Amino acid sequence: MEYVTTIAELQEAITVLPRPLGFVPTMGALHLGHVTLVRQACADNSSVAVSIFINPAQFGDVGGYEQYPRDLDADLRMLRQEGVNLVFVPKVEELYPVGFDTWIEPGRLAGLLEGEYRPGHFRGVSTIVTKLLSAFRPTRAYFGEKDAQQLLLIRKLVTDLNLGVQVIGVSTVREADGLAFSSRNSLLSPTERTAATILIQSLELARRELERSVIDAHVVLDQMRALLMTEPLAQIDYISMAHPDTLEELTTVDGPVLVSLAVWIGSTRLIDNIRHDPRE
Ligand code: PAJ
Repeated sequence: MEYVTTIAELQEAITVLPRPLGFVPTMGALHLGHVTLVRQACADNSSVAVSIFINPAQFGDVGGYEQYPRDLDADLRMLRQEGVNLVFVPKVEELYPVGFDTWIEPGRLAGLLEGEYRPGHFRGVSTIVTKLLSAFRPTRAYFGEKDAQQLLLIRKLVTDLNLGVQVIGVSTVREADGLAFSSRNSLLSPTERTAATILIQSLELARRELERSVIDAHVVLDQMRALLMTEPLAQIDYISMAHPDTLEELTTVDGPVLVSLAVWIGSTRLIDNIRHDPRE
């Protein structure tokens, strides 16, 4: 596995990688969710590249850039084991050198849900993803459905800016008790880790209600809120039942729905979602 830290080294290294090239952007502290994206990329392509970069531009003042978990040695071991060809681990100055002054400004979708609670977050994500896709020029790029709004925005970004890469969404990978893998889970204390299952429990409650044909979104949201409030360590940012493509809040669920939430467990903010289609 080749290890590069500059754009110049990266661009030289990718010229010799067999195509199709699969690319998996990450912020490191890798877990089985990331590994699943990498495995999918390995299955679909002749070579695979991964980036590890904690992008300061997507963290607001309270976004937790400093606290974000880091474990480069373990990450590199994991990627080597998966047969990744190239890993790019730039310093902040490499991607945001002095004088950097061009940003990708995403539209309406970026102001909703995560965007409402993390102003500027998707501007940071859109800018870094555009920079990485321009540098790697992959055939396919892999993103998790765990970050459903991010995936939606990246699909739109790639279409709107004609970036010419195939965006592949990968299902959310979960621990045995249903908690979605997340780098942030390592910040949870043992008590908080137990409390964190309240996220998937409330999403599963929503799924059960939708499966028994409850169509009033507010009835479902009230039940989810009531369940979340039984957990003293949980503090809700938002719970949403929205159209999966437009992210417009639904009042009646008679088609596909993205049920998503952001909940603080102690001082760690977790997000999760499920999709449901009553017609399926
Ligand atoms: P990061 O949180 O490291 O996630 C990298 C990729 O892994 C994202 O596409 C994310 O959706 C996916 N992922 C995370 N947890 C997952 C899980 N449990 N199951 C499936 N996929 C999962 O998302 C980012 O980094 C950044 O915003 C990035 C796109 C790299 C831009 O900086």
